[in-house]
Amino acid sequence: MGILGIIGGSGLYDMPGLEDVRHVGVESPFGAPSDLIIRGRLGSVELAFLPRHGLGHRLSPDGINYRANIDCLKRLGVTDILSLSACGSLREDLPPGDFVLVDQFIDRTRARPLSYFGNGLVAHISMAEPTCARLRSDLAKAAEGMDFTLHPRGTYLVMEGPQFSTRAESHLYRQWGADLIGMTNLPEAKLAREAEMCYLTIGMVTDYDCWREGEAHVDVESVLKILMDNASKAQNLVAAAAPLIMENRQTPCPSGCDRALEMAIVTHPD
Ligand code: ADE
Repeated sequence: MGILGIIGGSGLYDMPGLEDVRHVGVESPFGAPSDLIIRGRLGSVELAFLPRHGLGHRLSPDGINYRANIDCLKRLGVTDILSLSACGSLREDLPPGDFVLVDQFIDRTRARPLSYFGNGLVAHISMAEPTCARLRSDLAKAAEGMDFTLHPRGTYLVMEGPQFSTRAESHLYRQWGADLIGMTNLPEAKLAREAEMCYLTIGMVTDYDCWREGEAHVDVESVLKILMDNASKAQNLVAAAAPLIMENRQTPCPSGCDRALEMAIVTHPD
C-alpha cells in the first residue's frame, strides 16, 4: 500500500475528514519544505498533505523549495501525488470554476532548481508525458456525477511570476496552444518523475488572465473568491479519487512513473 500525497495550492490548506491527524516535520538535505506535513487517514487511505505556499500563504511561487517538498513526501513513503493548482484560463471554453487534468506543460520559469541531479551525477529522464495517465483516468472516474466540469486534458504554461502576465504574453501563450497558466507546477512534475513518483496536476481555473476582450484584468480579489469555491470541490474530488488510486496502485504504473530512472540516461560518477 502506498501513501497518497496532496499538494494544496492557493486557497487549499487542509483536507477535511482526516483521522489520526499528525503534523510531521521532515528533514531534507535540500532544505526546508513549505511547512509541516499533515499526515492522516481518509477513510482507508493513508494521506500526506503539504500546503505548497505554507500555512497562511507565506511563500511566493519563486520562493518555494520544490526539491525539499518532493523529497520530504518521498521520505514519508508517498507514492502518488495529486497537485492542486489555481490557474488562469487561456481558453474561452475553460471558465473560472472548471477543473482540468493537466497532461502537458510548457516551462517559462527562469530561476528554479529543477533537478536532483548534477554535481557529478548526470541523469536525463523522459518528460514526454509529464503527468501520470493512470492518475488522470482515476480522477476522471472520480469526477463523474460531480456538479462541476472537469476537462480530461490540457496544457499548463508555467510562468516565473510572481507578477501576472502582460497582455502580449497572454496572447502569445494562447498561440502556443497553452490552455492554462500558473506559476508552480512544472518544477514539481519534473522532480516527482526523478523521484519515481506518480504525479498529476489538477488545474482549478480562477480567472481568464488578461487576454479576453471585455473581461476585467486578473485581480487578486476576484481570484481569491473563486479560490474558496474551488477548494471545497477539490476536497470532494480528492476524497472520491483516493480509494480508486490506492486500489489501482497494487499493479506497477502503466506509464512507468514508478521506475522512471530505469529508462533514463544516467552517467556513473566514476
Ligand atoms: N494563478 C491563478 N491565475 C493565474 C494567472 N492568470 N496567471 C498566473 N497564475 C495564476
